[in-house]
Amino acid sequence: MEDTEKIIAALLARAAAAEDPRALLKDPEFKQLQLRFKDLPGEHKPTFGKLLNEFRAKIQAMADKKAAERASASVVAIDVTAPFDLNLDHASRPKLLPTEQGTMHPLTRELSRVVDIFTRMGFEAIESRQLDNDYNMFTALNFPPGHPARDGYDTFRTEEGLIPPAHTSTMQNRILRAGKQRLENGEAIASISYGRVFRNEDVDATHEHTFYQVEGVYVSSDASLAQMLAVLRGFFETYYGQELKIKTQPAYFPFVEPGLEFAIEKPAALGGKPGEWLEMLGCGMIHPNVLKMADIDPEKYRGFAWGGGLERLVMLAHGIEDLRHFEAGKLNFLRKFK
Ligand code: PHE
Repeated sequence: MEDTEKIIAALLARAAAAEDPRALLKDPEFKQLQLRFKDLPGEHKPTFGKLLNEFRAKIQAMADKKAAERASASVVAIDVTAPFDLNLDHASRPKLLPTEQGTMHPLTRELSRVVDIFTRMGFEAIESRQLDNDYNMFTALNFPPGHPARDGYDTFRTEEGLIPPAHTSTMQNRILRAGKQRLENGEAIASISYGRVFRNEDVDATHEHTFYQVEGVYVSSDASLAQMLAVLRGFFETYYGQELKIKTQPAYFPFVEPGLEFAIEKPAALGGKPGEWLEMLGCGMIHPNVLKMADIDPEKYRGFAWGGGLERLVMLAHGIEDLRHFEAGKLNFLRKFK
């Protein structure tokens, strides 16, 4: 009996290491034990039989465990689109965090505030594209072919020459074309577009390869810089919930003339000192060539446009010091925005 126990222990050890533990049920050593059982005198059969049955049960348990491990491993390896394999029984499904523990991403939440403010001012809002072409990125925006300003945007390109847009201004030509009829009806074009933009930059606390911009386009028969400054002031004062000092300084963008940089004085409530200016966005009167490119007569209509990063706005509002937090997916950062 003792040597039977030793044989069984050795078989179990091999089963534990085997790909398929059930193969050990067909092992010659186990078969011999079964033959011995047959030939045993009656009084020894119950004890011996119990050993064999326990062995079979242990092998079965090992086989079940292996199968469950394989099933959960294959969920990770095969199904990248669903959080678990729908064929798995409930007990074997991975534990997912309940939705109450989830939070909206701070950029999503703040973007909806931004869109809300502009739509209440009468702007329609459209999402920008994440893949575009040279025409919308440069040509329609009055960047002549070979113009050095094209290099200023550190633009990515696919091998086919498509462009993940480096700014939301790629939407201007589409917005203008779509709105031409409105102008002819005596109305204005008033649109914002928002979305991800991409630049081939070295990443640090203030530079990301992927970030969000919000762009505004307004065209009418009498649009002016004064109107633009009123819209921008109105937006920033609503977003930060207080009166602000604003200023502009000249800047160069081929698609506006004059081109400006728009700055606000950092509010004391957000840690600013008097005279500490923050550049928030680029803006200006839409260049006549950009209107012409969209088949709009610059003698009859004029417009203004602006575009700036969403992250900068949110970082100031919430005292976030590093731009990389937004894309890092760290729960302790994301949970601060419940
Ligand atoms: N697209 C410009 C940028 O990303 C900003 C801008 C938009 C400037 C519209 C003027 C008018 O740098």
